[in-house]
Amino acid sequence: MNTLIQELQNAQTSQELEAIRLKALGKKGIITQKFSELKSLEGQDKKNFAQEINEVKQKFESLYYLKKTELQTRELENSLQKEKIDVSLFQSQNHRSFGHPINYTKDRIIDYFMHLGYELCIGPLVEDDFHNFSALNLPEYHPARDMQDTFYFKDSMLLRTHTSPVQIRTMQTQTPPIKMICPGPTFRRDYDLTHTPMFHQVEGLVVDNGNKASFANLKYTLEDFLKHIFGDVKVRFRSSFFPFTEPSAEADISCVFCKGKGCRVCSDTGWLEVLGCGVVDEYVFEAVGYQNVSGYAFGMGIERLAMLTCGVNDLRSFFETDLRVLEQF
Ligand code: DAH
Repeated sequence: MNTLIQELQNAQTSQELEAIRLKALGKKGIITQKFSELKSLEGQDKKNFAQEINEVKQKFESLYYLKKTELQTRELENSLQKEKIDVSLFQSQNHRSFGHPINYTKDRIIDYFMHLGYELCIGPLVEDDFHNFSALNLPEYHPARDMQDTFYFKDSMLLRTHTSPVQIRTMQTQTPPIKMICPGPTFRRDYDLTHTPMFHQVEGLVVDNGNKASFANLKYTLEDFLKHIFGDVKVRFRSSFFPFTEPSAEADISCVFCKGKGCRVCSDTGWLEVLGCGVVDEYVFEAVGYQNVSGYAFGMGIERLAMLTCGVNDLRSFFETDLRVLEQF
């Protein structure tokens, strides 16, 4: 019995301990065998012997459970130690990224406006003349309708040249107050260093009853938006012209490359144009049958914002699916 206890105490692993348990309490184990010796005894002898081996068995078992817990705890600690992950280890083949710069920029824009309660709207890519042009105060002989600029199908259908037709569709199906943004692809017959036939825009539209939606609201919203996207920049509004807004403006930010000092990217002006905006023209409200409302709208090119925030200087690299370029993001 003493050697059994000694062996139990010396066990170093759970397997060793299990072998000792079988040696003592298995079918042919030393303690088990002792019980079969009971058959040959009688009377008080039998009683005494039975008491003795039961005590031995109990002692062995309680020592065994103590040892078992001790070994299991030690083994768990060892494996936790071995399996510890060193998060500071350099991983050379790590291809995780924030995604394509266009999608990344688009998501940031959507996030900003959805937090302000704007509804996300989607419109068709194949549009009709009314939604893409006439309802936006671009009448029949307007130069923007030129065959040179627009991809036409039969029957005055076309690939939308901007996301502004979604303004019209939203107003036709909803009543004010409206707060919506619409991101998506747009198409023009253009291909050079700074233009691709397919590109992306985000349109924004706010309409409210009476004269609640003002140019001041527009200015505040866009200034805060541009600071959210570009960080610490100055924002200025320049008067401009769009057929669907009156008054109209373009927003510039101080050049993100030279901090406004003047460089090649900003043509030495210190400013970069980033979006168009304005107060919705009465003509547009008339086209959708709205009365006694006010509103403002804005539109921007996602590629331009992505180039400025991600430091990309050739627009075409966004569309060439060259992994060496995309992996940098
Ligand atoms: N649709 C214009 C474009 O494609 C962008 C734009 C300018 C949209 C002013 C607007 C706006 O909603 O108010 O260049």
